[in-house]
Amino acid sequence: MNPDWNRAAQQCVERCRVLANYTEEPGWTTRTYLSKPMHEVHRTLAEWLAPCGCEVHIDAAGNFRAVRGVADAPRLVIGSHLDTVIHAGAFDGILGVVMGVAFLESLGTHELPFALELNGFSEEEGVRFGVPFLGSRAVTGDLDDRAIALMSGPIREFGLNAGDLPLARLRPPITGYLEFHIEQGPVLEQLGLPLGIVEAIAGQTRLEVRFEGRAAHAGTTPPRLRKDPLAGAAEWMVEVEREMRETPGLVATVGRIHAEPGAPNVIPSVATLSLDVRHAIDSIRHGAARRLADAAERIAGTRCLRVHMETRSDLAATPMDSGFVSLLEDAVRAAGFPAHRMPSGAGHDAMILAKHFPTAMLFVPSPGGLSHCPEESVREEDVAAGLASGAEFLRLLERRYA
Ligand code: HGY
Ligand code: MN
Ligand code: MN
Repeated sequence: MNPDWNRAAQQCVERCRVLANYTEEPGWTTRTYLSKPMHEVHRTLAEWLAPCGCEVHIDAAGNFRAVRGVADAPRLVIGSHLDTVIHAGAFDGILGVVMGVAFLESLGTHELPFALELNGFSEEEGVRFGVPFLGSRAVTGDLDDRAIALMSGPIREFGLNAGDLPLARLRPPITGYLEFHIEQGPVLEQLGLPLGIVEAIAGQTRLEVRFEGRAAHAGTTPPRLRKDPLAGAAEWMVEVEREMRETPGLVATVGRIHAEPGAPNVIPSVATLSLDVRHAIDSIRHGAARRLADAAERIAGTRCLRVHMETRSDLAATPMDSGFVSLLEDAVRAAGFPAHRMPSGAGHDAMILAKHFPTAMLFVPSPGGLSHCPEESVREEDVAAGLASGAEFLRLLERRYA
């Protein structure tokens, strides 16, 4: 196993660009949960893997699964996600999957003492339903009834059967989970480092907040008779920003707002907002979310509005597995790179897998710190460093089984 990682890295970047063409919106890259272009992503990944002798299938949640090796052998899972945000870049999630393809290609006929499974998760971002991690939660058996109800229609439309969801679960023995991902922030670039080893992932809360007022005529309704939920939402958004600025380490974002009925000459009846709150310490995140909920009630009260809040997701800060992190650190050093540990502010499928299996993550830098936008990119030499380190990780794990 000694391929030319520079060539493989170049191919990874090219492949990410190919997959970015499979989109719901021409000219943009937007691929939400089980949207039609996901069929083309699955087909293309299967074509690339055809020479590798893997067993490929799409599970009931729409995850792409490729297994190399004996079914009941201990299994190392490598993965990341195939869905994207709206108007996305070409690398978030996808890079980790195509790097997995590169590992499978690099192995040739070499026999490993464990099976290797590549997972391309169908949903991580939570764009379609406001609920993230549906793909990885299917493989760990963490889907609740509400998530299954949301997924069932799209699963049927995609040609799959929600009744088979229990079969999507990873069965032990699972050796662990390894995820390669772009950093999505500026730290590694500022430090001039090619790789980052994730120690822990910040916790995150996602809420849907709905202000309800009364629709009325924009030209005839005087200020004192208005019950304008969008104005209430605007006041609350300023509170969200203030809470973030006053709480060190907290990030809080309203990323989506929808007014109904949505006409220029109608005072809205309803404003619906998303809220995403993150912090490395769960108690601080929960405190901030509670204060923001209180602020929404207070603002609704003073404006004669009603407000409803629904928690769509609440994920604790997640440490990675210390043993797997050390092994990854050894692998990065063995490949000839500095082993820099760091936290992740972005959420990842690794948060879900880590509750069940030893889990580690490796970051490559994001030039300009940019992600979740079309300008997102990677440098080929960093991807090559990630591939070489991943290959060392497999070699070290192989030794453990020897
Ligand atoms: O939102 C996140 O942190 C991730 O990119 N899904
Ligand atoms: Mn993302
Ligand atoms: Mn991602």
